[in-house]
Amino acid sequence: RPVLVLNGPNLGRLGTREPAIYGSTTYPDLVALCERAAAELGLLADVRQTDHEGELLGWLHAAADAGTPMVLNAAGWTHTSVALRDACAQLTAPLIEVHISNVYRREEFRHHSYLSAVATGVIVGLGVTGYVLALRWIAEHA
Ligand code: DQA
Repeated sequence: RPVLVLNGPNLGRLGTREPAIYGSTTYPDLVALCERAAAELGLLADVRQTDHEGELLGWLHAAADAGTPMVLNAAGWTHTSVALRDACAQLTAPLIEVHISNVYRREEFRHHSYLSAVATGVIVGLGVTGYVLALRWIAEHA
């Protein structure tokens, strides 16, 4: 069973990027973690990252057409993009929004997500473990 794990801008720099906030796990570590967790749950994870919003929109359109469940950390676009929300709203399979940091303990502009209202569920502040928990939910419910 396929599952998409999509990551937005700057997440390719995990590990070196503000480690006090995002931890020391690198992006390749995150990919390996998701692939391993998914395999143990009987899922096949396709983990991707992009710094280009149009590329992410294209992946969402394909997922909408294919009915693929998704874990999405849209990073900064979470707080800015109506276009991304509109793409998420077209998904038919479950969408779990994940944030590594607890956005509610941070700046005010991170408290609003354009995506949460069209997501199936949201996991924030549990570090990269949030991805594993999201995969587990998908394995059990999708
Ligand atoms: C983030 C939180 C966002 O506010 C931020 O822009 C990110 C990462 C997180 O995973 O904690 O880039 O989505």
